[in-house]
Amino acid sequence: MKKLYTLILLLLVSITGLCQENSDINLFQNTEEREKISLNGLWDIIVDPLENGYYSHRLEPKPDGYFLNKKMKKPSDLVEYNFDTSDQLIVPGDWNTQKDKLYYYEGTIWYKKDFEYIKDEQENLFLYFGAVNYKAIVYLNGELVGTHEGGYTPFQFNITDKVKDGNNFVVVKVDNRRERENVPTVNQDWWNYGGITRSVYLVKTPKTFINDYSVQLSTSNKNEISGWVRVKNSSENDKVILEIPELSKKVEIKINNGLGKFNFKAKPQLWSPTNPKLYNISMTTTSETLTDEIGFRTISTDGSDIILNGMKIFLKGISIHEEAPFKTGRVTTLEESKTLLGWAKELGCNFIRLAHYPHNEQMVREAEKMGLMVWSEIPVYWTVAFENKNTYKNAENQLSEMIARDKNRAGVILWSVANETPEGEDRLQFLDNLIKRARSLDPTRLITAALDTQAEGNDGKHIEDALGNLVDVIGINNYCGWYYATPESCAEVKWSSKFDKPMIMSEVGAGALYGLHGASDERWTEEYQANVYENNIEMMKNIDFLAGVSPWILMDFRSSRRPLKRIQEDFNRKGLISEQGMRKKAFYTLQKYYMNENKD
Ligand code: GCU
Repeated sequence: MKKLYTLILLLLVSITGLCQENSDINLFQNTEEREKISLNGLWDIIVDPLENGYYSHRLEPKPDGYFLNKKMKKPSDLVEYNFDTSDQLIVPGDWNTQKDKLYYYEGTIWYKKDFEYIKDEQENLFLYFGAVNYKAIVYLNGELVGTHEGGYTPFQFNITDKVKDGNNFVVVKVDNRRERENVPTVNQDWWNYGGITRSVYLVKTPKTFINDYSVQLSTSNKNEISGWVRVKNSSENDKVILEIPELSKKVEIKINNGLGKFNFKAKPQLWSPTNPKLYNISMTTTSETLTDEIGFRTISTDGSDIILNGMKIFLKGISIHEEAPFKTGRVTTLEESKTLLGWAKELGCNFIRLAHYPHNEQMVREAEKMGLMVWSEIPVYWTVAFENKNTYKNAENQLSEMIARDKNRAGVILWSVANETPEGEDRLQFLDNLIKRARSLDPTRLITAALDTQAEGNDGKHIEDALGNLVDVIGINNYCGWYYATPESCAEVKWSSKFDKPMIMSEVGAGALYGLHGASDERWTEEYQANVYENNIEMMKNIDFLAGVSPWILMDFRSSRRPLKRIQEDFNRKGLISEQGMRKKAFYTLQKYYMNENKD
């Protein structure tokens, strides 16, 4: 039955070529523009390595856990915890870089926040989280409102019927323990930053409200704008007025069963790296107006070329982790995102690979404003439990939430479903299902994955991984001159592919400690790193199906796989810039390639 449903859905999608309006992901579109109360700031916390606040000594969930936020009422009362006198952490933020004693901590921390609220019968209230790493159990006034798994995508709960007039308190059990069946699984080459890492809002909406929408250039006709809008609690004859003033467009959309579809003729300037044009749009109902900034562009492939707005384009990119410059830890501010993106622009980039998980929405929106095309990825990283049904459901959910959040971002051109996964039947089926899901939710973007399965032949490297059949663009991670071979030998390496599809060199690079200088064959020196870049750039010039590159990586980032004292100090040193903003030699090697190569 599910197969038949998917088939019908795929058929429908291919006919309409629109992002699908019936994603079962219950997530607002464009939370930032909605009326909201921020719960960011200091939260009271209790560190609970034994989950004593959740489980009894019989390891059963206990009814009177820390989520009750109990208080002593009389001196004889026994309450062995008290949020109000406990420690505090800043939200948004990871706990590892806020407190030395939590630097290595993986486990449960309870967060509590009080807020005042005046009930209004005319409005709904939602509790929204930008992201919580990794598992979140959320309570309001001691009552469970919901759970979420996955550290990098947003989620929300309708608390309209649970919120009280006056004082309320939210308690969140956050657990970032790594488990084999999780996504990502137990080993990853980035720090497992725990906590409520992105903003928390109380979002107010009118009783009838615009929940979700998709506004894009129709894939079948670039002189047409098409899409849909979903209205919750709508009634007969409800309408939404869509306006794009700069295009003198004012369109009335009839809402049927909560859904309204539209398409109309229009000739917008197309979004591109050289002209990142965004249009102010507004959607108005009788009870609210929602605004957004939308770009219009087409993206496709033609053989081994990537085609933007009908023209071949070369992706001059860089990979980026969501590590904050200078302070390190998770990026939490727009300024930090702008700093990272500014460095990518300085490099001469028109493309960024956001690795290995969806980054915060601010980063994606700012990249779009700065004319940077985006590769966005879910953390199906290395050897997840491909045979495990729950692991698949979890991965599919993270994929759906990623697409739901960023489907209106013209800057996002690629959805990546995996990084460096081992060949095998379970893996192929797992990724095939994810790709089908991605295409059913969004047939307008390219699907990719980063592979490290290229075969070594006498005639060089050969791409033949069966996953190549399923994706639109093939990402290749290859560390010639670092994990194998000498830097000099890389320039001669030849590449071939079984697939007539674009290849992106999604990872290439080498480690270097900023300020360490020496011979070009001396590991960890800036000269060695630059030498690797020079020779790999020569290699890439000879790959005629290469459509882009995103070297590993813009900035050094924390990883518990990197303990080498006096060099790594818990940082992966493959950055072209140190975490303190110091540019290494190879930064200029890549910049020269991008500036002088004049590839688009
Ligand atoms: C891998 C992986 C990255 C990792 C990098 C490295 O290819 O995808 O997450 O950080 O190699 O080893 O530095």
